[in-house]
Amino acid sequence: MGMPGVGKGTQASRLRDRAGVLHLSTGDILRDAVQAGTALGRKVKDFMESGALVPDDLIGDVIGERLGREDARAGFILDGFPRTVDQVSILDRVLKRLDTELDGVYLLGAPEAEIVRRLSGRRVCPNSTCGEVYHLDSHPPRSAGVCDNCSSALVQRPDDTEDVIRERLKVYRDQTLPIARIYGERGMLVEVEATGDPDTVFARLESRMVKSS
Ligand code: AP5
Repeated sequence: MGMPGVGKGTQASRLRDRAGVLHLSTGDILRDAVQAGTALGRKVKDFMESGALVPDDLIGDVIGERLGREDARAGFILDGFPRTVDQVSILDRVLKRLDTELDGVYLLGAPEAEIVRRLSGRRVCPNSTCGEVYHLDSHPPRSAGVCDNCSSALVQRPDDTEDVIRERLKVYRDQTLPIARIYGERGMLVEVEATGDPDTVFARLESRMVKSS
């Protein structure tokens, strides 16, 4: 967990490559649904574009279904979920049903000015089978505006505009930060400083990881 743009997706995909387990980003699942124009996508589009959270019951259905699939059996990294107190309860129920538990909850932190810099410079590949994430300064594509992997034209996410970034930060403080306290009280929260380049952050994160038995 961590503020919008702190680097959750960047670190989770490195961890997925290292650990060989599923990376489950609720943001990516919802964006794919919007792009594909599914019933879920139509329900969530306006929430996402305004910077609000999508209703908990919709997210609960998505997570319950996704974690029940075969490819989640070997383990999973949750990125962007849970992010409300009610979603913590939803996750508790899903984990109990699957007879599994979390190894740890990692809270990435960086100053707000750095967050705004990361979000405003982010460019993403819109091809849902690729989805590579770039940054104009810290991780530019080899050829300006073009994805290195699949040659699609890179785009800016619709929620990466100044007004929506401000709203997302407010939503994070009001609705998501309180869950850090819950996991702290359960003795599961590990705070990781997310300043520095992605490799530096990954080394820090890995050094703090709780090893699964
Ligand atoms: P979601 O997609 O989860 O967005 P977010 O939490 O706002 O996080 P981001 O994806 O913006 O950032 P990130 O932390 O992954 O950073 P990244 O690695 O890309 O959610 C979007 C929306 O979906 C929500 O607003 C909501 O509407 C809905 N939603 C999703 N989950 C939900 C839920 N559970 N409940 C309800 N609604 C939900 O990095 C950002 C940029 O910085 C990139 O350009 C990257 O290259 C760069 N960067 C990363 N690390 C570094 C570094 N160390 N140094 C320099 N640059 C870096």
